[in-house]
Amino acid sequence: MPIETRLTIPFSDQRPGTSGLRKRVDAFKVPNYLENFVQSVIDMVPELQGGTLVIGGDGRYYNLEAIQTIIRMAAANGVARVLVGQDGILSTPAASAVIRKHGAQGGFILSASHNPGGPEGDFGIKFNISNGGPAPERLTEGAFERSKVIQSYRIATETAPVDLNTLCETSLEGMCVQVIDPVADYAELMESLFDFEALRSLLSSPGFTLRYDAMHAVTGPYAREILVNRLGAAESAVVNSIPLQDFGGGHPDPNLTYAKDLADLMFSDAAPDFGAASDGDGDRNMVLGRHCFVNPSDSLAVIAANATLLPGYAAGIAGVARSMPTSGAADRVAEKLGLPSYETPTGWKFFGNLLDAGKVTLCGEESFGTSSNHVREKDGLWAILAWLNILAVRKESVAEILADHWSLYGRNYYTRHDYEGLDGVMAGQLMADLETKLPALIGQRFGAYRIESADNFSYTDPVDGSISSRQGLRILFEDGSRIVYRLSGTGTVGATLRIYVERYEADPSQHDIDPQVTLAELIALANNLCELHQRSGRDAPTVVT
Ligand code: G1P
Ligand code: ZN
Repeated sequence: MPIETRLTIPFSDQRPGTSGLRKRVDAFKVPNYLENFVQSVIDMVPELQGGTLVIGGDGRYYNLEAIQTIIRMAAANGVARVLVGQDGILSTPAASAVIRKHGAQGGFILSASHNPGGPEGDFGIKFNISNGGPAPERLTEGAFERSKVIQSYRIATETAPVDLNTLCETSLEGMCVQVIDPVADYAELMESLFDFEALRSLLSSPGFTLRYDAMHAVTGPYAREILVNRLGAAESAVVNSIPLQDFGGGHPDPNLTYAKDLADLMFSDAAPDFGAASDGDGDRNMVLGRHCFVNPSDSLAVIAANATLLPGYAAGIAGVARSMPTSGAADRVAEKLGLPSYETPTGWKFFGNLLDAGKVTLCGEESFGTSSNHVREKDGLWAILAWLNILAVRKESVAEILADHWSLYGRNYYTRHDYEGLDGVMAGQLMADLETKLPALIGQRFGAYRIESADNFSYTDPVDGSISSRQGLRILFEDGSRIVYRLSGTGTVGATLRIYVERYEADPSQHDIDPQVTLAELIALANNLCELHQRSGRDAPTVVT
């Protein structure tokens, strides 16, 4: 029997509202667990029968095993063609690009993003639809419901594993399996958006130094091909560029805490002109200049303000979208350029409708996510190339570009404090109690700050009218300052409370202050209002951005 229908135990532990599974590796080793998810998704996407499916992952432990299972299930479910990245590799933005370019009906991406990997680490799987973006809620919720009742799944048996090491085309039970170069389509897309001539003269000039840290994760091969082979950067400029199953034991999240080596270098005497890093699956980015850090909210604003310098956006952009906790810096650019700006809930899926409808060209999140309408995911290397292209045209340093931006638009001082590994019940209660007391806070004054409004953010999608409520507690002050509280939806251990604090400063003589200093009063107020110390016993955040 080449194709078997096997019994599956119904599973129902996907967190509602999430677009895939992200769990400890052990959970995925439970018999039929992965299979149940894959079959439930396939059942929701009938176009896959006779269609094309893309498969790839960030190279973490269990990637290859999971891919072999999905290939055999695709064959048994009547998929006509599978495109799989060589060695099982596809970054999240590259998978999005491949789905779009080849007109695939969808793709499975194996990744737990920036979460640690290895036998003791996390694994994950998500499904992207034919526009290249994360599956919308109606699909993921449908698959979730299906996973609770499904009795069996289909899988091709008695087949040898597909050789993923070589670029080739084989057939498996009548399904065509193409092992593709994971970088080629993506690099070609980047070449169509950015001025590679200008980039080459910048990156190959001896006067310009660069450090790109791939954090032992998926973007290593992409960075080597694009930055070194095509753009002439020194080989030594790209570090930690071989994807490892456990990311070298690190936490592949490009922020000041987890990409500490890079951050230390950029603030040292030996700092190169430009530093950047990307996360486990390549969708996040961090950008630094010599002795200067670009916060992701500012990064979106600077790219928006300079978009017409980039060939792919020379005709102008349609609008800008940012997630609610992201600072309002991009709104100020949009306003000045007479463009629409949108404020969405946290999570990339909310940008998809706006991009598909042509309402925005650029979007970004404070959590090191920036991208455009070229794919339907955030895209780490894209953002880094956008910055390099802007540097190449303006012939200024990162610090000069930031200073000039703030003098034109004012500075949105911003910080995010994460409290990780909190007790889940305590954190839930903290949020519930704070929400209850919000109405009474309106109109109250705390030092220089008077609260103008306070609510739990709700979003009505301007394209399909769908409503997403309870997306984070907001306290808005008279002078435009804000405090936002959210519980993370992506952590796997306990609860993570995120507190976001923002204040606008128009005066250029005040643009050079450490955000932690200028925001100190608001940070203290944020902690007090939610009784952080009394409830959690914590004195300091785990991660400060
Ligand atoms: C975090 C980020 C959010 C991002 C998500 C996926 O989610 O805050 O902006 O979209 O990871 O990368 P959170 O853990 O806050 O729910
Ligand atoms: Zn990621």
